[in-house]
Amino acid sequence: MTMYLPQMAKIVKIIRENPQIKTFVLEFRDKEYNKSFSYEPGQFMMVSVPHCGEAPISFSSSSTRPGTIELSVRLAGKLTGAMHRLQPGAMVGLRGPYGIPFNMKELADQNLLFVAGGIGLAPLRGVINYCLDKGGYGRITLLYGSRSPDDIAFKTDIDLWRKNGVDCRLSVDTATEGWDGQVGVVTTLLSGLEIERPRSSLVCGPPIMIRFLLPELSRMGFRDREIITTMERHMKCGIGVCGHCHLDNRLVCVDGPVFDLAQLKELAVEELGELT
Ligand SMILES: Cc1cc2nc3c(=O)[nH]c(=O)nc-3n(C[C@H](O)[C@H](O)[C@H](O)COP(=O)(O)OP(=O)(O)OC[C@H]3O[C@@H](n4cnc5c(N)ncnc54)[C@H](O)[C@@H]3O)c2cc1C
Ligand code: FES
Repeated sequence: MTMYLPQMAKIVKIIRENPQIKTFVLEFRDKEYNKSFSYEPGQFMMVSVPHCGEAPISFSSSSTRPGTIELSVRLAGKLTGAMHRLQPGAMVGLRGPYGIPFNMKELADQNLLFVAGGIGLAPLRGVINYCLDKGGYGRITLLYGSRSPDDIAFKTDIDLWRKNGVDCRLSVDTATEGWDGQVGVVTTLLSGLEIERPRSSLVCGPPIMIRFLLPELSRMGFRDREIITTMERHMKCGIGVCGHCHLDNRLVCVDGPVFDLAQLKELAVEELGELT
């Protein structure tokens, strides 16, 4: 069936973001397909390397910069390991775009608080660049937590965002020599922070971060619909057929990966504990 058939794409460049994350800049082999390809912030692609499997990876680029797409991949296992061994010029299979994106129309004119942990900044990088390129969004604040200063990814982007008026605040779990910034989990960056209405918070990171962050945002007065996050599940088909990615009675590949807190409260999501 054609919906399972990947389009081949060439790796035109590889950017090492930190010891575990590489950004792959890709171009579809079919020039016409490459030209007409479009996607929205928060969506993902199913990425494959022959004989090494397939995995969902979010766009870390923005469709406002056409011609290539970017996928930032953290070394985790079989497929991501195979990708990390590839060199520019190699081909990968891509199918998509899949998933419900962030509702960028609804977010227009709002002050946006982005909170990311580790590879969670990859999808939010695409959203931030989309907002900056399109315009029409309020003040942008980014809180980004990493394990150590060496693990901070997307440093070039962070420098550029700062020059473009984004308030970027970084924290590390463990400091090393020379680090004079915040030390502690990313939630420590919330202290004293004020984001004026209309506002929303877009959150992306490991489940443990999301679990502690959602109640903190609620305590700051963010309403459930103003707290938007992404959920991860192992996926096979990516198109709502195999049932592999179920999240209670929903499927992350077609009902997500973007969910707001109001939606999550209606589901039993084990890793988030009891959401009140
Ligand atoms: C919508 C979405 C977007 C994502 N976006 C990104 C992104 O932008 N960048 C990125 O780096 N990652 C992203 N991920 C995560 C990424 O898909 C996984 O890290 C990837 O699937 C790992 O594939 P792998 O073959 O390399 O690892 P695997 O070989 O599958 O192993 C990865 C880990 O998962 C464990 N595992 C394997 N199968 C199962 C199973 N069935 N149940 C429980 N544990 C299992 C393994 O033991 C291992 O620890 C995203 C995931 C989703 C759902
Ligand atoms: S991955 Fe098959 S239903 Fe979601």
